[in-house]
Formats: sequence, structure tokens, C-alpha cells
Amino acid sequence: MRFVYCKNYDEMSKKIAEDLIQEIRQNPEIVLGLATGSTPEGTYEYLVKAYEEGTVDFSKVTSVNLDEYKGLGPDDDQGYRYFMNHHLFDHVNIDKANTYVPNGLEEDSDKACSEYEAIIENVGGIDVQLLGIGGNGHIGFNEPGEIFIKGTHCVDLAESTLKANARFFDSIDDVPKQAYSMGVGNIMSAKKVILAVSGKNKAQALYDTLYGDITPKVQASILQLHNNVVLYADEDALSIIKEKGLL
Ligand code: F6R
Repeated sequence: MRFVYCKNYDEMSKKIAEDLIQEIRQNPEIVLGLATGSTPEGTYEYLVKAYEEGTVDFSKVTSVNLDEYKGLGPDDDQGYRYFMNHHLFDHVNIDKANTYVPNGLEEDSDKACSEYEAIIENVGGIDVQLLGIGGNGHIGFNEPGEIFIKGTHCVDLAESTLKANARFFDSIDDVPKQAYSMGVGNIMSAKKVILAVSGKNKAQALYDTLYGDITPKVQASILQLHNNVVLYADEDALSIIKEKGLL
């Protein structure tokens, strides 16, 4: 795992955007695996800025997102398709026909998941996967459990995830209880993984991910087995690792 130290959230966002821009320049037809949530918002802002300045071209880029709440459609402002349009796709020259998010409106979970698996296969797999991490160590919506799940699946969201994500909804009762998520197999098949971690509330999860056992109880710990992960972490996220004298 390569490690890029960042002073704060802004520096992390900027450095990740630079990394992604470099990747897009090297391979204009790149397939990006994208994430939602607070972590990548700053990165997307920097990408939009770079596009406006003419330094990056998204016209041939394809994207596949990690996850979507079951029950939320593309126009739902808490949904992840809406998030991606709002934060990135509406502001750059990506062809939206080449951007994929699981179909939250498909009630048949098996169908939604097998269709998404087919999409990932049809685009030829993921070149660079951008990941955030949950306070409980989840990646995508692969929640702590007894096993690692390989492909796209329907997840019962953990209580801690419902609580963490309630900030985006009027109340915790409005947070959908299920989501469609890529599995860790999809994530691990990406040629390169960019892991973005910011904030004290992620410090324990980051410590467990890097120094703990490889266990489905901390889903991100499987990244120890990936041979091309670049970790961008800020000072707050590294606080526990530092306290333990590991940095
Ligand atoms: C988002 C996703 C999640 C988030 C994680 C962290 O598509 O799959 O794993 O990356 O929950 O969320 P934030 O960045 O909001 O702290």
C-alpha cells in the first residue's frame, strides 16, 4: 500500500483529484469506480474546477458507482445517482450514458444485482476505484459481518450506518434500510484502489484496516491483500496510528 500523507481534508481532496486527472490523461477511456458520501465531495469539486480550466477531458470516461439505496430513484435528492449528477456529472463533459449506478428502483434484488454485475463486466472491469470508508470499516455498503461477499448484492444496512447517514435525511426513520452494493470482489478486482480517509471519526477504522487482522468484521481490511492501493489520509484520520507510535 502506498501512503500519501495529507494535512487536512482539502489537501487530501486536491491530491486525489490530481491522481485521478493523471489517470484519465494516461487512459482517456478509463473506467472509474466512484463513491458518494462526504469524503469525495472535495475531490469532485477539484475535478470540476480542473474541467472548467480545460485540464481534464471526461468525454471518453466510463464510471460505475459503488452503491445505491434500495427504493431511491434518480431524481431523489438523497439518492446516489442524484449525488453524482449534482456533484460531478452535471458539471463535466462525461457522457451520462456511460455512467452507472445500481438501479435503486428495481424491487427485485436479484435482478438489480445481476444487471449491475453484467454492467461491470460489459465495461471491462474497473481501472481505478475511489473508496471512502465507514466508521465501522465498511467499503461500499459491505457491512461488518461473518463473510466477504464477492459480487453486487442487497445489503441490510448496519445500525451504525443508518445513524451516520441520517445527517443527509430529515430523520433516521427516512434512511432506507437496504442498499445495493458492489461486493468486495468487485472492489478487489479494480486495477488500482484509491482509499480516501479523513477525520477523527475514521481513525479507529483506519487503524483496524491497516494493522488489524484481515477480517469481514472490518471489511476494508481486505485491502491489505490488494497490490495497488494508494491511501490518502489526513492528520485526524491518522491520529490513533500516530498515538500508537506507528508513524
Ligand atoms: C459511498 C460508500 C460508503 C462511504 C462511507 C463513508 O458510496 O460506499 O462506503 O464511502 O460510508 O462515507 P462518508 O464519506 O460520508 O463518511
